[in-house]
Amino acid sequence: MIDLRSDTITRPTEEMRRAMYEAEVGDDVYGEDPTVNRLQEKAAEVTGKEAALYVPSGTMGNQVSILTHTSPGTEVIMEANAHIYYYEAAAASALAGIQPRPLAGQKGVLPPELVEDAIRPDDVHLPPTSLICLENTHNRAGGRIVPLENMKAIHDLARRHNLPVHLDGARIFNASVASGIPVSDYAACTSSVQFCFSKGLGAPVGSIITGPSDFINEAKRWRKRLGGGMRQAGVIASACLVALETMVERLADDHASARLLADGLAGLKGLNFDPADVDTNIVIVKPLTMTPQRFNDELKKRGILASVMGPDMVRLTTSREVESKDLEKTVAAVKEILAL
Ligand SMILES: Cc1ncc(COP(=O)(O)O)c(C=O)c1O
Repeated sequence: MIDLRSDTITRPTEEMRRAMYEAEVGDDVYGEDPTVNRLQEKAAEVTGKEAALYVPSGTMGNQVSILTHTSPGTEVIMEANAHIYYYEAAAASALAGIQPRPLAGQKGVLPPELVEDAIRPDDVHLPPTSLICLENTHNRAGGRIVPLENMKAIHDLARRHNLPVHLDGARIFNASVASGIPVSDYAACTSSVQFCFSKGLGAPVGSIITGPSDFINEAKRWRKRLGGGMRQAGVIASACLVALETMVERLADDHASARLLADGLAGLKGLNFDPADVDTNIVIVKPLTMTPQRFNDELKKRGILASVMGPDMVRLTTSREVESKDLEKTVAAVKEILAL
């Protein structure tokens, strides 16, 4: 099978497996796992933040951040197609007790004036705004890079309103590699950042939150409350260190694969798709002559796995697990399906 469902399907490299076997470990709930500590230091450094906290997943990283920044009965501004709004099983409402304020972005990008207008004035009838969440790259917008200038403008207005900004940077390294802008420049526009090791970076488990030391100390308490305190976590953190050391630059290969796919699908009748929308490793197409589910089923019959992303979209994601011949096969299969 050619698996284009997600970059989460990437399996650990030999080097990661060796590092896992050899990892020096301790009890991380006591802060005594040297490998986790090294990973946290490195992640803090790469994002230009004071401290970091290793968590089991991107979802937990986002939710621990929301829990730490907010209190129940407040409102959190986010893009209407954000992962935090769409794919985290309403955790922010169920766990943090916040009210999401989803705003429609343009291809994942929130116009700063829209964000500023959504900040609640001080009025007893209204929920106080407590946080602004951004996502970069933006998954449901097709891996779009949110421009640094946009993040800066939102950060500036957030500061004027004394509000924190959390970045769901699950794929911030994709944004950085594709744009040439350091991760720390994006992170400078935020109060906290979550990024994932287990997507294109290829590690088997884990995400990290970075931010100021006092924020991370409080986040550690929330991680414990949620049951995310891990013990000899150096076994998995060691693979994340290898990911940071060896897998960042090669994300460019995934972007080149997505470009190959995009160029092959460009101009096909029966698909609503603009190759100019592909910035990184995600290609989203909208079949016009059949449902996304049928399109997906037909792909599967031809040995290709993709993801249905709602009533009109199918997502094809490139990763280290796909080769260029797989993409040529995919383009040929799509042409065949559209001719049905
Ligand atoms: C943008 C974004 N944020 C967060 C997550 C959550 O990560 P996890 O699956 O590790 O919980 C994902 C997962 O695909 C994602 O795409």
